[in-house]
Amino acid sequence: MTVDLESGRRKLAWARVHMPIHAHLREQWAASQPFAGQTVAVCSHLEAKTGVFIETLAALGAQVVFTASEPRSTQDDVVAALLAQPGIHGYARWQADEAELERLHAAALDHAPSLILDDAAELTAAMLQSRPDLLPRLLGTCEQTTTGVQRLRAMAAQGLLGFPAYAVNDTPMKRYFDNIHGTGESALANLTLTANVLLAGKRLVVAGYGYCGQGVAEKARGWQARVLVTETDPRRALQAHMAGYEVAPMILAAAWGNIFITATGSKSVLRREHFEVMRDGALLANVGHFDVEIDTQALAELAQTQREVRDGITEYQLRDGRRLYLLAQGHLLNLTAPAAMGHPIEVMDQTFAMQIVAARHLLAHRTELTAGVHTVPDSVDKQVAQLKLITLGVDIDIATHEQFSFSQVWSRQEIKS
Ligand code: NAI
Repeated sequence: MTVDLESGRRKLAWARVHMPIHAHLREQWAASQPFAGQTVAVCSHLEAKTGVFIETLAALGAQVVFTASEPRSTQDDVVAALLAQPGIHGYARWQADEAELERLHAAALDHAPSLILDDAAELTAAMLQSRPDLLPRLLGTCEQTTTGVQRLRAMAAQGLLGFPAYAVNDTPMKRYFDNIHGTGESALANLTLTANVLLAGKRLVVAGYGYCGQGVAEKARGWQARVLVTETDPRRALQAHMAGYEVAPMILAAAWGNIFITATGSKSVLRREHFEVMRDGALLANVGHFDVEIDTQALAELAQTQREVRDGITEYQLRDGRRLYLLAQGHLLNLTAPAAMGHPIEVMDQTFAMQIVAARHLLAHRTELTAGVHTVPDSVDKQVAQLKLITLGVDIDIATHEQFSFSQVWSRQEIKS
């Protein structure tokens, strides 16, 4: 199949228009070239917003090598348009299977990156497992998603993390916007695009009331769906309850819902016992990083027939005649459904800007940082928030000298003086 280079270029051009923080960073640091001399590996969903992120790193002096964190979210035309640019190398292909994905990661690692800007710790894990000889050259990593931070912490707990890793996902500028608004909007947009069904009045079950689940639940309520939340964490369950959602165990939710969206970062959240009680016609989708939240093997075992009934929708007809519909084969719906484009561009402008500013900070402070998972300094987070406000043309107040001094005192007399 021939790849349409021009279409990739058009997608990049459209994304650039909506990524003003990146434009600002390119301008601000053009002269200082903070990534000069560094080989920066980007592992992420290879579409246009990631493309602008990669271009920006190259413009700031990096030799960039990219690869996919999930093959189905790769857009080959964008990849071609990126590879036509100087200072950028890459290994990603739509529809690569697991074995090919490993080879693509290996090819990216052959460039011996000094920094990894990762998604779900995919490339970091590949380096640990297959190229430990490259670890001495690695100065650090920045991680953009929840599952990745979880994996990094697991590596650290096993004593395997010999370098600093910034948990970019855990910054307010990332998770309050990308996970909540980005996942919320793009999950529902892709659900309705893929299935072309109405949400108003539907019984929609959200599994996991974390940042992503909160976004999905809130947006779905805005579309007048009736939303029920399932949780395993008592505080998150309580939060969902106080936000006005029904909360119930999945075994009850399974019999109630018309639409199910998993957003837990866990596995087998929807499994055999749930499929056994679901209504005919239920739609099943996942927005968590790995395609293990819906137990597709159990679904296949329960089914009498299995067929593609619409692009991105697999029908499983069970022996009792009920039909359950799996969207995007249980992969990330908002990134891998047939018309998927991932998060809205502005959200990724923010997330990738966080990756760039955090990576620059990590480089500049690498001698002070110990091995392990680190919180990104608040000053870095605020810097990106400030940039975002500038691009929006939004002004805010600055605390007065008196107010600053007030925040430093504790005695009642001084507070009242
Ligand atoms: P989070 O940790 O804030 O929330 C996950 C929630 O799921 C927690 O409240 C946890 O208690 C709950 N949970 C865990 N197991 C459960 C189970 N069996 N049943 C019900 N609830 C359960 O994580 P966050 O940030 O919401 O991310 C969730 C997943 O989404 C991760 O895999 C993350 O990497 C991925 N993600 C996907 C995005 C996308 O574009 N689709 C964007 C950002 C994150």
